[in-house]
Amino acid sequence: MTDRERGPVSRRALLAGGALSVGGAIAVGAAAVRTGGDHAAPTPAPAAAGGQTIAFHGAHQAGVETPAQAHASFVALDLAAVADRAALRRMMLVLTDDAARLTQGVAPLADGQPELARMPARLTVTFGFGPRLFDVAGLTAQRPSSLQQLPAFGIDKLQQGWSGGDVLLQICADDPVTVAHAQRMLVKDSRSFATVRWVQRGFRNARGTQDDGVTQRNVLGQLDGTRNPAPGSDVFASAVWTDSGPAWLHGGTTVVIRRIHAELEKWDAADTVGKEFAVGRRLSDGAPLTGRLELDEPDFNAKNELGFPVISEFSHVSRAQVGSDRLRIFRRPYNYDEPPGADGTADSGLVFASYQRDIGEQFIPIQRKLDDADLMNEWITPIGSAVFAVPPGCEPGGWIGQSLLG
Ligand code: HEM
Repeated sequence: MTDRERGPVSRRALLAGGALSVGGAIAVGAAAVRTGGDHAAPTPAPAAAGGQTIAFHGAHQAGVETPAQAHASFVALDLAAVADRAALRRMMLVLTDDAARLTQGVAPLADGQPELARMPARLTVTFGFGPRLFDVAGLTAQRPSSLQQLPAFGIDKLQQGWSGGDVLLQICADDPVTVAHAQRMLVKDSRSFATVRWVQRGFRNARGTQDDGVTQRNVLGQLDGTRNPAPGSDVFASAVWTDSGPAWLHGGTTVVIRRIHAELEKWDAADTVGKEFAVGRRLSDGAPLTGRLELDEPDFNAKNELGFPVISEFSHVSRAQVGSDRLRIFRRPYNYDEPPGADGTADSGLVFASYQRDIGEQFIPIQRKLDDADLMNEWITPIGSAVFAVPPGCEPGGWIGQSLLG
């Protein structure tokens, strides 16, 4: 190990070195400074959370089953008119190489700020292909039927500026500087092939502020994610990873991204009973209204003393439940919070990301039921919508999208 790799003597090492005299410590410190000589001071190794990496290679792309990182940037690209299949192949080769390096804390080629790559903080980069990409690449026949466009829903107030896109870059890490740097590198390297259509930044509870695995709270204060298929389980695999349709997508999935605005002022004005009735769960601990603990099974048949259902049939959880594990979706939402309007009203909500084998079989029926009658609709409005096929992962030497474009 070189002095540069070893880094300077840390404050903690100096303080912990009980046997070391003050004079000795100063001498060691001075030596550390001298090794830098006239050059820049060595970059210290990242602290525990910053140094953590998630494997890039594997059967599935990382960033779906990966426990959600604290920060995310979802970037949708529009392919340039000249981007044919060969160009797309070149782009995915370059972007895969960038992502494989960045996620392991290694600067990509021609990184102007390689120091910023040294803190991966569980960075994942997940690529998705929008419906139009298949036409652009002359591969219309390979567009999977599982990548269905969503119909128009009555609750939607969609804005073009938050909708659609040919290529998705989903960039997640526990550190926002890491996300910003990865985004910059990937967008820079895609510039000859595509333009940025939209970017949606999101956040969850910061890593280390609560135990890993504890359900996050969204901007409405609800525990969000309780009844998700457990990552790593058979239920997750059968609901999320594609096992039929075109072979190129096996081991991949689909993602629906909905930007859902939350009327926080109106939500503030509602009382706790009304808020809990709308979702069917308690705000304090996320327990179903029929239970005691967060993970208790909701009892949709339970009646109150007046004979009415305790969990309303119009509550969010009632409407969103499905008949079989294979029809479940995996939700990995992030909060957003943009600067408030001039009158001080919040511009907040969810960048709601849902992964499933088949959008038509799984996502659309749930969204339809929510559209028909979900008490939560009083406070939430979808303002953006996009769908992407998420190709399977790749092994070292391979690249994302190879099974389609290779
Ligand atoms: C701003 C928008 C939304 C908010 C604030 C929200 C909030 C919640 C909350 C608090 C729960 C209960 C806890 C949990 O199991 O995670 C929940 C459950 C659920 N939500 Fe949403 N949700 C939103 C949008 C959606 C959308 C768009 C869908 C799908 C189309 C959806 C599907 C589900 C499902 C499947 C469950 C689990 C139902 C069950 O099996 O118990 N949600 N949501």
